[in-house]
Amino acid sequence: MGDSLRVAIAGLGTVGAGVVRLIDTNAGLIARRAGRPIEVVAVSARDRSKDRGIDMGRFDWVDDPVDLARHGNADVVVELVGGSDGPALALARATLASGKGLVTANKAMIAHHGLELASAAEAAAVPLKFEAAVAGGVPVIKGLREGAAANELTRVAGILNGTCNFILSKMEAEGRDFADVLAEAQRLGFAEADPSFDIDGVDAAHKLSILAALAFGTRPAFGSVAISGIRHVIAADIAEAAALGYRIRLVGIAEAGSNGLFQRVHPHLVPMDHPLAHVTGSLNAVMAEGNFVGPLLFQGRGAGEGPTASAVVADLIDIARGEYGPPYAMPADALADAEPEAAGERRGRAYLRLTVADKVGVLAEIAAAMRDAGVSIESLIQRGAASDGSVLVVIVTHEGPERAVAHALDKLSGSPSIIGQPMWMHILG
Ligand code: HSE
Repeated sequence: MGDSLRVAIAGLGTVGAGVVRLIDTNAGLIARRAGRPIEVVAVSARDRSKDRGIDMGRFDWVDDPVDLARHGNADVVVELVGGSDGPALALARATLASGKGLVTANKAMIAHHGLELASAAEAAAVPLKFEAAVAGGVPVIKGLREGAAANELTRVAGILNGTCNFILSKMEAEGRDFADVLAEAQRLGFAEADPSFDIDGVDAAHKLSILAALAFGTRPAFGSVAISGIRHVIAADIAEAAALGYRIRLVGIAEAGSNGLFQRVHPHLVPMDHPLAHVTGSLNAVMAEGNFVGPLLFQGRGAGEGPTASAVVADLIDIARGEYGPPYAMPADALADAEPEAAGERRGRAYLRLTVADKVGVLAEIAAAMRDAGVSIESLIQRGAASDGSVLVVIVTHEGPERAVAHALDKLSGSPSIIGQPMWMHILG
């Protein structure tokens, strides 16, 4: 058996402590699989005295995480500090510059700076691995980067945020509204005190942009992901979607084709018979389509101590074996610079929900706006008046250009009959 792979860990929160626990628990098995032991030698965190339920006193303690990059005894740094910039990025840059490998679970940092870090890792001929950054314990990066490497991949779609999926699943199961379920999820510790990155779709967009770069061989382009979250989904949307044969899920979709690179995170109506409709609770799932392998589906737990530690240590095992290549499956300078595809050019079916004043001519006004914009209505449902005199109108359109739907909603936006913002969700094809 060879010399140990010596690891320094920055960040001893749930995941960092989980990585130590996993390496302790499965040490013998890991050593046999990796061909040599994996040994934690140094750690860094904000609070040295915190009880993490595991002995950290046996490791060299370093106050400033960035100092781990120059730790004389470590081969690889595991970055679990979080945040796209700040200490995490300083540590990542310093680690690669000092010729050590880097493993990170930091989706925000990889989404924003992945290309720079990949170039630095390739220049230094050291590994940069980030399996835990997308879908936690689900080995989707390995699956696309290695298992599906022979295929041209043209589409990736997934449920990439467990918090949103938990909230939507609970809203559906219990008929409750978003704010109510979010408050409960926060009380139970399933959602962050500041949940905006999760519920506004940013976290899912980070992950989608990483997957797109890997799948399509395009330069990471987080800035061109069209993002909207689940804040404005109401219980009635979920009930109407169910009556129409759909579930609402926050879905990230990326496609690469002759029109360019399309990336969107948006609440979608997913047909009940679609695999993503059956991903419930806090699970994550990713579907990809390869030209030889056909459809692929990866599913599992996208967060939490065990799953995330599992992905981090899998990366360490690859490094211990010497099995790693360019972070994006091809050299960073071979990644194509794809133009973003404009959403308006796309075609699809739409779900529209409007709250309107219950008065003569409102439906005619809506129908006229749709007609004038060239939107063909497949079905229209009006639900009885609420105590404030408003009614809910739900429209499902036939397939058509998204630009036309935007145009119709634009026409209606100044109407005194329309109360509040209409809700527009895409229907997954
Ligand atoms: N907050 C994420 C989620 C997990 O809810 O899925 C880490 O990205």
